[in-house]
Amino acid sequence: MGHAQTQNRWSSQVGFILATTGAAVGLGNIWKFAYMAGNNGGSAFVLIYLICVVCVGIPLMMGEMTLGRLGRSDAITSLEYLAKQYRTHPAWRYLGWLGAITLLFVLSFYSVVAGWSLFYVVKSSTNQLTQLSAPQVQMLWHQLLNSPVTLLTYHAIFMLMTVAVVARGVQKGLEKAARMMMPALFAILIILVCYAASTPGFSQGVHFLFHFDLSKITPSIAISALGHAFFTLAVGAGCILVYGAYLPDHARIGRTVMVITVLDVSVAILSGLAIFPLVFTYHLSPTSGPGLMFETLPIAFSQMGGGRWFGSLFFILLLFAAWTSSISLVEPWVALLVERFGFKRPTACWLIGSVAWVLGLATVLSFNQWANFKPFLNRGLFDLITDTTTNFMLPLGGLGFAWFVAHHIPHSALKQALSFKRSVYFKLWYFGIRYTVPIGILFILVEALL
Ligand code: PHE
Repeated sequence: MGHAQTQNRWSSQVGFILATTGAAVGLGNIWKFAYMAGNNGGSAFVLIYLICVVCVGIPLMMGEMTLGRLGRSDAITSLEYLAKQYRTHPAWRYLGWLGAITLLFVLSFYSVVAGWSLFYVVKSSTNQLTQLSAPQVQMLWHQLLNSPVTLLTYHAIFMLMTVAVVARGVQKGLEKAARMMMPALFAILIILVCYAASTPGFSQGVHFLFHFDLSKITPSIAISALGHAFFTLAVGAGCILVYGAYLPDHARIGRTVMVITVLDVSVAILSGLAIFPLVFTYHLSPTSGPGLMFETLPIAFSQMGGGRWFGSLFFILLLFAAWTSSISLVEPWVALLVERFGFKRPTACWLIGSVAWVLGLATVLSFNQWANFKPFLNRGLFDLITDTTTNFMLPLGGLGFAWFVAHHIPHSALKQALSFKRSVYFKLWYFGIRYTVPIGILFILVEALL
């Protein structure tokens, strides 16, 4: 083999599925999915998102994971090695760098938002929400956004939590965290959906999410839905590639990707079913944007019986989801620094955590000190960073990975790495990665730019 292969492996296929589901299921499924569906006409967004997951997300995730299995290293080293092995241009490694930079920017705002969840875990578990009136709950949210010190503190605590897990390594850190948090996350979600089903707004919530109205679909909804499919499946930035590099030899890629996607989509739908009935029951607005989860829902928790417990559970759910994902945002960098530049794992973790924390200042300040700084398209830094990474950088990276897999890796190598049981599955996947993935991405990117 022409390059140093990583020795890290998941302990088992189940461990791998849980960890990758942990990467996929995150703030994207709960916070972002809810407010994007709320802002983009509910079901119209949900429908395109589901189509994008099936036609673009699934084949791409399989492709990215295959690159990891074949390259067995961080994204850049893997691409460099594969480019050499299959005699194509070494510049393909820059695709790995694009992914790494995307992940760093995602991590920078992700940790700030996860910090909000932590803030609300503290507020609701210490019973500080229940006595508040609706305007007071809203004031609490605005006070939080207006206080850079509080925001930075929670952002720092969350980053420390993430770094502490990644520093422990693949099996003792990443995998163990997922094994503990993912089952808890599903249990909490089911409790919350059952509660929502007992509220009067349930049928309106279901209608809002599932009553498909094709006339509501617009290009901007389509681009948001595609971007969201990338974001929520964690594809397009090399994160799945690195998780695939740690895949045990016997694990099957096709089956695991299907399981991960089904779990990921279910969490998004179930959290929609937990959130929107409350929004409608308490006559709140589904279109309140990124604040939906933090400004609007706590009003429901402050008014319902047992709100202290439901509120705490909800924010713990959000926190766990964010935690396992932020771990997956750090790991690709740590793999890179350790495998390629010879860093010690803990040092690499601290370094990346610190850089992302500093970058997070842009997000933090965009809510207060820099609120009027709108450098581009009249949008603040937080919006610019989230939209550029999600709607542009991830799809672009995804296009690159799909192209590399479909055009530079020989059929036989792909067949062996994917090890599908039936050849028709392979044909379907190959058609997807060659045609539906690039055409879908290009169509939507061009549409968005026009
Ligand atoms: N998938 C995560 C979520 O839904 C976010 C993420 C994006 C994680 C890109 C890794 C890479 O919240």
